Amino acid sequence: MLYEEPPVSQSVIVNDVGPRDGLQNQPKTLVPPERVQLVKALLHAGMTHVEIGAFVSPKAVPAMAGAEEVLAGLSHEAGVSANVLTVLIPNLKGYERATAAGAKSVCMVLYGSEGMSQANVRMSRQQAESATASILARGKEDGVRVTSTIAVAFECPYDGPVDPGIVRDMARRFLDLGTHELCIADTIGAANPQQVRSLTAALADEHGVDQLSCHFHDTRAMGLANVFASLESGIRKFDASIGGLGGCPFAPGASGNVATEDVVMMLEQMGFDTGIDLDSLMRASELARALTGTAPGGRASTWINRQLDKQGREHKK
Ligand code: COA
Ligand code: ZN
Repeated sequence: MLYEEPPVSQSVIVNDVGPRDGLQNQPKTLVPPERVQLVKALLHAGMTHVEIGAFVSPKAVPAMAGAEEVLAGLSHEAGVSANVLTVLIPNLKGYERATAAGAKSVCMVLYGSEGMSQANVRMSRQQAESATASILARGKEDGVRVTSTIAVAFECPYDGPVDPGIVRDMARRFLDLGTHELCIADTIGAANPQQVRSLTAALADEHGVDQLSCHFHDTRAMGLANVFASLESGIRKFDASIGGLGGCPFAPGASGNVATEDVVMMLEQMGFDTGIDLDSLMRASELARALTGTAPGGRASTWINRQLDKQGREHKK
């Protein structure tokens, strides 16, 4: 039941980034067929948006090797063309590889700080911006959807706090250049809800919310609070990671993304519609744990499983 009518749209999109952000820093590397299995479990739960991998250097991130095989493994899945399956790319070479493999949606990363840009892709912030602008132009020609993610939008593990003015300027530039989506990412999970509310409200005021999304990590246990803060600004699209998997290999101290099952539970209890079946989602979470051995699971997992058991599902513990 609704506590209060949500102010903008009733629908919220949750994009599961577990198969990319979640898996890139695990002690165990999953082979492409295992990654395909995980994505299929997420799609089966009704998720329409999944970040399925990254076309990055396999030397830099061995866990993302074979992204072509992951895409190929999903291409025959029924109804898959209706879903937004995104791949992360670090540069133009990543764009070429991704589109040659049939990707229709790519995510390119911009940086709130110089230190993170250098650590992640050995480019300056300016070079990453130029590369993203070229990829946007290519995407327009090729009919490929491009998300521009601003990483370390609040704080950088190398350079410290990030000036919100830098993030707002960058967001304006890339929305003007025609990015399909502009994602604000708290890559290391350092932001608090006050900062999130302030930045997302300013962005929503200036641009509207249709192209905005947010990406939170739960390092300081503020992931869900930050989702709520941005919901209040009108944001209706969030990244999350099944089982809370995650952590960036180039962002020391970052833990996993806010868990998809926690985000979906919170949204549904608030009266929003995600289109995701929580029971099937918990099976995907169990699969993530079984495959990696390390997925912590959502904070509300015990409670969710008890509710589902009470409702009489056949659930394997
Ligand atoms: N996919 C595959 N290989 C790539 C690549 C891509 N998108 N971009 C570059 N490479 C290869 C080059 O071909 C070259 O290969 P070689 O050593 O066999 O000749 C090698 O990587 C180095 O290329 P170079 O252009 O000199 O790049 P670099 O060494 O400065 O590395 C990146 C830069 C971007 C390739 C690398 O740092 C990277 O992939 N980072 C991704 C980081 C990431 O995923 N972070 C988490 C997500 S935010
Ligand atoms: Zn992340």
